[in-house]
Amino acid sequence: MTTPDFLRMKEQGERIAVLTCYDHLFARLLDTTDLDAVLVGDSLGEVTLGYRSTLPVTLEEMIHHASAVRRGLEGPLLVVDLPFLSFQVSPEEAVRSAGRVLKESGAEAVKLEGGGERVVEAARRMVDAGIPVMGHLGLTPQSVHEFGGYGVRARDPDEAEVTLERARALDDAGCFSIVLEMVPSELAARITGDVSAATIGIGAGPEVDGQVLVLPDMLGLNRGFEPRFLRKFAELGEEAREAVDDYVDAVKDGDYPSSTESYSAGGGDG
Ligand code: KIV
Repeated sequence: MTTPDFLRMKEQGERIAVLTCYDHLFARLLDTTDLDAVLVGDSLGEVTLGYRSTLPVTLEEMIHHASAVRRGLEGPLLVVDLPFLSFQVSPEEAVRSAGRVLKESGAEAVKLEGGGERVVEAARRMVDAGIPVMGHLGLTPQSVHEFGGYGVRARDPDEAEVTLERARALDDAGCFSIVLEMVPSELAARITGDVSAATIGIGAGPEVDGQVLVLPDMLGLNRGFEPRFLRKFAELGEEAREAVDDYVDAVKDGDYPSSTESYSAGGGDG
């Protein structure tokens, strides 16, 4: 997968499937599927590193995890989030941060949140430097303190207009794709019809060019997180917990390991 493939898929009406990933083990698994793209999101901070928000995540942490994913992933496009304060201060710093992600992790594109003038200028400068950029509008978790929470965005008509204008500006800046997070379906459909970038929704309804979910959430590994938009395609957390309990019982009962799971001095057993 390449970034032009995203645009081709949009033109041909072929839906784009994206999931997040943060480590080598799952990257190898995802590489054996038909997934189109993998996002090393800064949700890494909450999901994998135990931070209370995405704000503490550093550029070094993103590069570290993206490199681990890269070592297990060949087919799907690899996109990496630019974390808080790695692109907001100046367009120069933004290009440098994005360049480091591509050089040091081997990813093919970066994602950045927001659509204000400064962010759009940063996106434009990155695209000028040959760095493919995915935008991100609606609920942008790096702005949680500005929003006052993680609720649905742009229900109010004024905010919906601003969001549409920002999508147009990111599109003009050359973004190949735009994530739309937690916005009304009607607005997501309007943006999708208005921009040439491929829109990728999360909590944005069905009328977008593709969908993204956080991998541990859709596998049922993230207990207690149940927003309306989330479909759990498996309950691996429960299965893993039962497997660990079975292991503990087998060890304590002396049932594990059996003779077929042990080696003999004579060999011939692998
Ligand atoms: O950080 C992340 O995982 C994201 C996706 C939810 C789009 O930005």
